[in-house]
Amino acid sequence: MRPRPQVAFGSLLVLVTFAACGAADRPGEASAAVAAPALPERFGLGTPVDEARIAAWDVDIRPDGTGLPPGSGSVEDGAAVYLLRCAACHGPTGTEGPNNRLVGTEAWEDFPATRTVGNYWPFATTLYDYIVRAMPQDSPGTLSADETYAVIAWILHRNELIGADAVMDASTLPAVEMPARDRFVVDDRLESNVVR
Ligand code: HEC
Repeated sequence: MRPRPQVAFGSLLVLVTFAACGAADRPGEASAAVAAPALPERFGLGTPVDEARIAAWDVDIRPDGTGLPPGSGSVEDGAAVYLLRCAACHGPTGTEGPNNRLVGTEAWEDFPATRTVGNYWPFATTLYDYIVRAMPQDSPGTLSADETYAVIAWILHRNELIGADAVMDASTLPAVEMPARDRFVVDDRLESNVVR
């Protein structure tokens, strides 16, 4: 049987660690190795931020869709984006694993059922705002507008909120009616000091 590569790699790491500990145990060699380098006048950290980088983070989508960029995406395209960029963490259908809040249509009456996009989010437009700035969690800001609209279409379709042929864009996304829209009330208590 051929050895498994990851086992071999693990053993190598252990060997390297032992070798490093051995060197540190010999005082003479260790002090020679840490001679302080001369510090430069300036480190030159950071570069001026250009407009393109600011634009990538300057995202502000309102519930009514204000701020949504041009572009569009279908449920079908979204399935491909989801598989490639999201399924590793959210599972093949958006219901598995520890982050299982993308898909779920349990009624509010079942609360405290898992809160999902389908049963808890009051505005579909929040999906754009959140996903484009925060997801994929390991590389946020890397989805194009078309990819973002497409993966939103897929999520909404999986939540049974739009049809399989639907296309999401700046005008169709704000028009999606979310079941949780009426499950929140405005806090209009005049006597309250709560920050609204
Ligand atoms: C590296 C893992 C990872 C990847 C990849 C990833 N996510 Fe997430 N996602 C998370 C985690 C963790 C959370 C929970 C974050 C929190 O609660 O603060 C989350 C939360 C979310 C939520 C909010 C769910 C809710 O109801 O609160 C949405 C929507 C979402 N992700 C969409 C996506 C989409 C779309 C993609 C692919 C483009 C994606 N994620 C890729 C880890 C990931």
